[in-house]
Amino acid sequence: MSSNVRHVPVMLQRCLDMLAPALTEPGAVVVDCTLGAGGHSEALLKAFPEVRLVALDRDPTALKLAGERLAPFGERATLVRAVYHELPEVLERLGIPSVQGVLFDLGVSSMQLDEADRGFAYAQDAPLDMRMDQTTGISAAEVLNTYPPGELVRILRAYGEEKQAKRIVSAVVREREKEPFSNSARLVELIRDALPQAAKRTGGNPAKRTFQALRIEVNAELASVEAAIPAAVAALAVGGRIAVLSYQSLEDRIVKGVFAAGAATTAPPGLPVVPERYQPRLKLLTRGAELPTEEEIAENRRAAPARLRGAERIREDIL
Ligand SMILES: C[S@@+](CC[C@H](N)C(=O)[O-])C[C@H]1O[C@@H](n2cnc3c(N)ncnc32)[C@H](O)[C@@H]1O
Repeated sequence: MSSNVRHVPVMLQRCLDMLAPALTEPGAVVVDCTLGAGGHSEALLKAFPEVRLVALDRDPTALKLAGERLAPFGERATLVRAVYHELPEVLERLGIPSVQGVLFDLGVSSMQLDEADRGFAYAQDAPLDMRMDQTTGISAAEVLNTYPPGELVRILRAYGEEKQAKRIVSAVVREREKEPFSNSARLVELIRDALPQAAKRTGGNPAKRTFQALRIEVNAELASVEAAIPAAVAALAVGGRIAVLSYQSLEDRIVKGVFAAGAATTAPPGLPVVPERYQPRLKLLTRGAELPTEEEIAENRRAAPARLRGAERIREDIL
């Protein structure tokens, strides 16, 4: 199956509509910080024929496949292998001082989930890797086999919102002493055995939260999002727009916080008139987070957890 059939871009029309007012001028630059299979990027290039695209991904496989897909757009598309918090350096290298649009479609791609041997999916047995860029960092198996128990509990609670973290980690520690973990099926089975019946009745596959937690840790995802969203806002020209799709509450909370801070005045309380330098530099484009429609979820199950937030840059930084 070709990559464009496999991956249906989430909330695509809504993302295009949100960015559209910023992308009308010839020479406008839009950055897709999460290229993946290139679905959103391709749609941006088609919908805005005057726009130049810069697209980032840390996964070399994604860059290769999306590169083939976007080849017909020639020099309008510049693809860069980078972690998205490196956006300022990437733009500097390309000699682009500011941009008109930024899109983030966070998390793991359908492509990564579908490639069984990368270990992202709990439904298939595979080496427990989970690195989006397999050329650097440590694998999920190494995290499981080497982290102190307290650290594992923290990760499962914080990144997986797993209430049974202690139970799971006790079982992991007991088992890893017998034999280190290497494959996903053994972990899935261990979690199933470790959880009480009641905890297994809700929330789908009981391994889901642990897998999410390991993936976030292995790829240092939240730290990257925390650094990347403010960097992207800073890269926007006045009138520029940013749209962010998150798939779990921790990411969404970070996005919400950065946007809310940007949309608030920084004036000390009690000033009768708020001077220009304290005025908000962002205007929110979404009230709360927007969700996909029922129809979209029916057609594309992976859209179900999506939350979209957008903002427009309305002021320069005044130093
Ligand atoms: C949900 S997919 C994007 C799918 C894409 N919008 C499409 O339509 O095909 C997310 C992508 O972001 C990449 N990614 C995740 N974290 C990243 C990071 N910190 N820096 C750069 N890329 C990252 C993943 O490798 C993955 O390819």
